[in-house]
Amino acid sequence: MTIKRSRRQFLNTVAAGGASLVAARPAHAAPRQALPQAAPAAATRPAVLGGTPVRTAAFPNWPVQDAREEQALISVLKSGKWGRGGGGQVKAFEDRYAAATGTRACLATANGTSALLTALAAMGIGAGDEVIVPPYTFVATINAVLMLNALPVFVDTDIETFQIDARKIAAAITPQTRLLLPVHLGGSVADMDAIMALSTARSIPVLEDACQSHLAQWKGRHVGSLGTAGCFSFQASKNLNSGEGGAIISNDTALVDRAHAFHNNGRPGSGSDFAYRHTGLNLRLTEFQAALLLAQMTRLDAQAVQRETNAAYLTTELAQIPGITPAKMYPGVTRNAYHLYMFRYDPAGFAGLSRAAFLKAMRAEGVPASAGYSPLNAEPFLAATFASTAYQRIYGPAALASAAERSRTPQNDRLCAEAVWLTQTMLLGPREDMDHIVAAVRKIQTHAGDIARQSN
Ligand SMILES: Cc1ncc(COP(=O)(O)O)c(C=O)c1O
Repeated sequence: MTIKRSRRQFLNTVAAGGASLVAARPAHAAPRQALPQAAPAAATRPAVLGGTPVRTAAFPNWPVQDAREEQALISVLKSGKWGRGGGGQVKAFEDRYAAATGTRACLATANGTSALLTALAAMGIGAGDEVIVPPYTFVATINAVLMLNALPVFVDTDIETFQIDARKIAAAITPQTRLLLPVHLGGSVADMDAIMALSTARSIPVLEDACQSHLAQWKGRHVGSLGTAGCFSFQASKNLNSGEGGAIISNDTALVDRAHAFHNNGRPGSGSDFAYRHTGLNLRLTEFQAALLLAQMTRLDAQAVQRETNAAYLTTELAQIPGITPAKMYPGVTRNAYHLYMFRYDPAGFAGLSRAAFLKAMRAEGVPASAGYSPLNAEPFLAATFASTAYQRIYGPAALASAAERSRTPQNDRLCAEAVWLTQTMLLGPREDMDHIVAAVRKIQTHAGDIARQSN
């Protein structure tokens, strides 16, 4: 298969870097082409000060769809089988996704949040259990833990990779720790060698939150297949998209059976009768969503290659700019899904221009960039949950105070103040789009003093 071959060549090229951490390298040997817009654009006034933007064209549209999606949806519509009970689309998608990730079983769910909730429930996580989590994630990772009355314990972020700092997990483990819940953030992969070694040594299972990392790989194995189970999201912004949707993958078929029962109101087996042997919820995916996913999967691999190729080029270019530090990858990452392209911004390289002013200037140049997450463990919802009657009764004030104390994450606080995100769709266009991103950053840097004086 040609795509596979070119991807391997690409990965061989990117794997040639660094000692302990590697940044993506370009797959191509061709010299950088002269950029017609770049030189004049850098010399002109920045758009935020009234100059001409580097680009006015939009980045690629998302979602991508054509007759494949149309036919898939119409076919479900006409079949009259819109729920998984009567149709075959959800089952077909589960089989396809399990095969694509190299796992024995897959269960589709209503969304990524419910995939996490279902997996946690199937793993028996509940009141009194501590779960190790990263603070640099979407709130759903934490909410799923809290919904089962378990206690999230935050481990600081590795600021170089934006992932949970696996070197700091051991210190957060107590006799109550029942689960390690790393997140593969932004399409990249947490340090799974270190996490799995700890899991084995301490007999604590791992649930991978891979909601942002479809098709990402660690040493050639798909994320979500390395721990006990892995969860994915197919929400509208995700690299695999059905508007809403989610999935759990695992090699533990008994666990997937329990998950199936939980997501089907606690009904085991085929689940079509009224025998309720467990608690559960209705968290089922519809046939329409599954049909969309099957159609979207026909492009997933090619899109992944496109993102990686563009991201590698972008990294090479941005890494040369003082004040810009692209997120690095652990050497075990053999495929980054690039749900986000992330870098750190240092105002010192930009005449003291604040990140907020930098982002505003980028947007004015036609390059939508955002600041990403704020420190999750400082959000009021967490303090409110810990102060609730249920949590005070289950854990008591001393354990809650200790969890809060152990959950200080200074590196993550710093990262939240420095991060800049570009979305995955921006990596789906031609090389010229990457040149525009770089040209915008360089132009802002050239005029950073002026912009700072007028906006800081
Ligand atoms: C890391 C992470 N976990 C969980 C979720 C929850 O997925 P969903 O929005 O499909 O419920 C998301 C979605 O944004 C996510 O990014």
